[in-house]
Amino acid sequence: MKSWPWISVSPAIAGERGVWLVCLVTSFNVFGFRPKQKVREMKRLEGCTALVTGAGRGIGAAIALRYAREGATVVVADLDENNATEVAEQVRSIGVEADSLGVDVREPAQSAAMIEHVAKRYGRLDVLVNNAGVIRVRSVLDTTPEDWDAVQSVNGRGLFFALQAGARQMLKQSPMADGRPCGKIINMASIAGRNGRKLMCAYSASKATAIMVTQAAAVEFAPKLTVNSICPGPVGTEMWKQIDREWAEHENRPIGSVWEERVGLIPLQRIETPEDVAAMAAFLASADADFITGQSYHVDGGLLML
Ligand SMILES: NC(=O)c1ccc[n+]([C@@H]2O[C@H](COP(=O)([O-])OP(=O)(O)OC[C@H]3O[C@@H](n4cnc5c(N)ncnc54)[C@H](O)[C@@H]3O)[C@@H](O)[C@H]2O)c1
Repeated sequence: MKSWPWISVSPAIAGERGVWLVCLVTSFNVFGFRPKQKVREMKRLEGCTALVTGAGRGIGAAIALRYAREGATVVVADLDENNATEVAEQVRSIGVEADSLGVDVREPAQSAAMIEHVAKRYGRLDVLVNNAGVIRVRSVLDTTPEDWDAVQSVNGRGLFFALQAGARQMLKQSPMADGRPCGKIINMASIAGRNGRKLMCAYSASKATAIMVTQAAAVEFAPKLTVNSICPGPVGTEMWKQIDREWAEHENRPIGSVWEERVGLIPLQRIETPEDVAAMAAFLASADADFITGQSYHVDGGLLML
């Protein structure tokens, strides 16, 4: 076969007719008629079982669906069991196995039972995404002990004990393949965990916890497991609707104005989508990221550059 960037010509037509064909295709290109490149759907997670918490909507749902398109079996866990069931149905319609679980990660016993369920049903857990999270927009002076605990119990304590249960299972497993880790953990942090945010003290502190848990666990579990985290910027989900509403109320501003202001600062000049975050989650779960651990990646259109 003789190959050109976007066509192949078999030896049978590579003579005079082949030359004409090449000229024809080349002239199409000159005038901008280059055939559209087909986006290749990657199947980097075939044979993997992945569990995503907080996957009933938003970023978690996008990760579950992306993992399914990459070929993984996906377990969708969420406090809202109905949403988890719906997302699991969408995952199945992509053509992979899926399961849904109603789980409250504030309860370490529930996280342990969730991991046990996955291990019993699928034999192993290859990828755990600790994505479940909550926020309260409060000034430092207005934050009550209840506000503080509500945020920390999910984003800090909840994430930690789900990671602990997941790691206990993964450390007992054989490698995902020769020379690969036995499992991968991905924690959902935030750029708010990189620097203290106005009206987000408890949230920023909880996301800094996620980043530090990522590093400490990565060191303890190397070389058997990789542990990384993702720090999204403002993503268009229900959580940001809540942030915008509570912030606007606090500062007596119009609804939508906080979101607009924040998005207006993004150097890449568009709204971040759950799929942007899911793309990073797919990379970190794949063999392409096997030599990466203890890292926290900003997926924020350049909003925070450290
Ligand atoms: N949206 C953003 O701008 C943004 C930015 C940075 C980081 N994040 C983080 O990404 C993650 C997902 O955020 P999102 O925007 O999709 O939020 P979201 O509110 O749309 O979804 C969060 C999901 O977590 C579930 N959940 C909440 N508490 C739970 C618990 N105790 N146990 C199990 N599930 C629980 C909810 O039911 C919901 O389905 C969170 O950790 C969030 O902090 C979001």
